[in-house]
Amino acid sequence: MIITIDGPVATGKSTVAKKLAARLGFIYFDTGAMYRCLTYALMQRGINLDDRETLLKFLSDFTFDIKQKGSDKQYFVRNEEVTTQIRGQAVTALVSKVAAIPEVRESLVKLQRAWGTKGVNAVFEGRDLGTVVFPHADLKIFLSGNLEIRAQRRLEEWKTKFPKEADHLTLQHMKQEIENRDMKDSTRVVSPLKCAEDAYVVDTSNLSVDQVVDEILARANSL
Ligand code: C5P
Repeated sequence: MIITIDGPVATGKSTVAKKLAARLGFIYFDTGAMYRCLTYALMQRGINLDDRETLLKFLSDFTFDIKQKGSDKQYFVRNEEVTTQIRGQAVTALVSKVAAIPEVRESLVKLQRAWGTKGVNAVFEGRDLGTVVFPHADLKIFLSGNLEIRAQRRLEEWKTKFPKEADHLTLQHMKQEIENRDMKDSTRVVSPLKCAEDAYVVDTSNLSVDQVVDEILARANSL
């Protein structure tokens, strides 16, 4: 069984997907982390995104690893652990530009589909899982949420994860960053962020993580 969870920034996708997968005994894939790892690797190598030839060569060799550590996942790019770096400001500012490149999507979607082969029980979370990657998923969820509340959540998260970087961040700053990324993700030509016609929409603004998970579980159990 494949469950997809899509939606804009800071609607709780990762937290909900992780908890839902644990409750169901499914595996969980954060596809945003893949785009982030690739962005980090491109930045490290100083690859110019407009130099398509070098980019294609890079893509054909690109590998990354995911390891489970307790209940968390660790991400590696060429043996370097990048779990924290990929969530930082530099990667966050560039990732939507990288994710809009058709060849990038082609190669990462191929990997995602390989993990979602027949018989697997998994929750896949991202932007285009229900529309493009798994259009025949068993259950499609689209999470939405009020911008002000999403910005507040993201600011709290940053303060915990990156206290130094978050020192100068304001709610207004966070709102702008979120709007900017959502705009880029939903207006790109290839696989834009949008709600699949057959997705079940959950507005997470005033719900706890457990309430969202319970709502999705109720849907899954009624299939
Ligand atoms: O989910 P997260 O915020 O970590 O995703 C980072 C970025 O990766 C998104 O803003 C988007 O540009 C890209 N992404 C995507 N398609 C996915 C998952 C993420 O384009 N399936």
